[in-house]
Amino acid sequence: MIVLGIETSCDECSVAVVEDGTKILSNVIATQSEQHAAYSGVVPEIASRTHTEWIMGVYREALERSGKTRVEIDGIAVTCRPGLSGSLVVGLSFAKGLSLALGVPFVGVDHILAHLYAVQLEHAVPYPFLGVLVSGGHTMLAVVKSYDDVEVLGTTIDDACGEAFDKIAKHFDMGYPGGSAIDSLARRGAGDAYSFPKPSLHKGDHRYDVSYSGLKTAVVHHLEKYLNAGFEPTRENIAAAFEKTAVEILMTRVERALRDFRFERVVAGGGVAANTYFRSRMLELTGGAGTAVFFPSLELCTDNAAMVAGIGYHYLREKKHSSDSLDVSARVAVFRGRE
Ligand code: KG4
Ligand code: ZN
Repeated sequence: MIVLGIETSCDECSVAVVEDGTKILSNVIATQSEQHAAYSGVVPEIASRTHTEWIMGVYREALERSGKTRVEIDGIAVTCRPGLSGSLVVGLSFAKGLSLALGVPFVGVDHILAHLYAVQLEHAVPYPFLGVLVSGGHTMLAVVKSYDDVEVLGTTIDDACGEAFDKIAKHFDMGYPGGSAIDSLARRGAGDAYSFPKPSLHKGDHRYDVSYSGLKTAVVHHLEKYLNAGFEPTRENIAAAFEKTAVEILMTRVERALRDFRFERVVAGGGVAANTYFRSRMLELTGGAGTAVFFPSLELCTDNAAMVAGIGYHYLREKKHSSDSLDVSARVAVFRGRE
């Protein structure tokens, strides 16, 4: 089955063609970072207008690169939540129009589930596994039981992990997009230059939760207080020590969940899963208690339509089509908690 995927939830305008949920025939990702760089953050109005301008061209290119023609498309999958409403509407409306024109069904998919599916495009990881979703809008640890069945263990109680990267980068003028700017600065800095505080969420319902607002406040407002003797307050050192602490906060929860549930597999996804230090720390878990660690390649960590087409295949195969009246939602769906 040939599925065309569409992703416009934030500032990536992407269309992909994927066969049978795993074989990527094309994955065109047009990033708007240049459009938003002057503001050091995504401007919703600019994002939706740029999607409107670009989506036809991105679709044409994705189709051409796939080697398929439009009559060979069996179904369409489109991100319908969560994200920026105005941007999601562009993708969803395009999907509906295309579905009507081609006479094929479409399905709206959840962006978070799509990130957790991304790994399947490159490695056939059997379910269940511990899913670690770290993106700009979300941070979540979950038992992933199938492509659309997740049981949330923990989430952020304030800022998302990627959001903290973006805010720190913006505050110190480190570059845009913030996450990758910090990643490259940190490679030239010392993670031990600062000893930033970490949240002490470890009890009861918060056992697997994370928090980033305390770290952000410490880095932005009380930087000098945490500088260790013998280190210079350079941007490289700030980036490296912030990155180290941000990843440490995550790793404590990941290790705790691995110990508690003895997962055989752990899968990361989302933009922050592209982070060099996070990847190396996660890989250290390999073999520990027989745990296998899986990551999507860098391009499939950040927003892309291949993961949308990939997960969409499963819904379409099961004839779980969306209705013509499907709307977008800016908010995260309420996933099941632990029973
Ligand atoms: O998954 P994604 O593309 O969009 C959302 O669903 O939010 O994730 C974007 C986030 C941004 O916060 C960005 O700063 C972060 O992922 N990011 C990174 C890196 N690349 C992207 N964070 C740390 N290191 C990176 N290399
Ligand atoms: Zn995303």
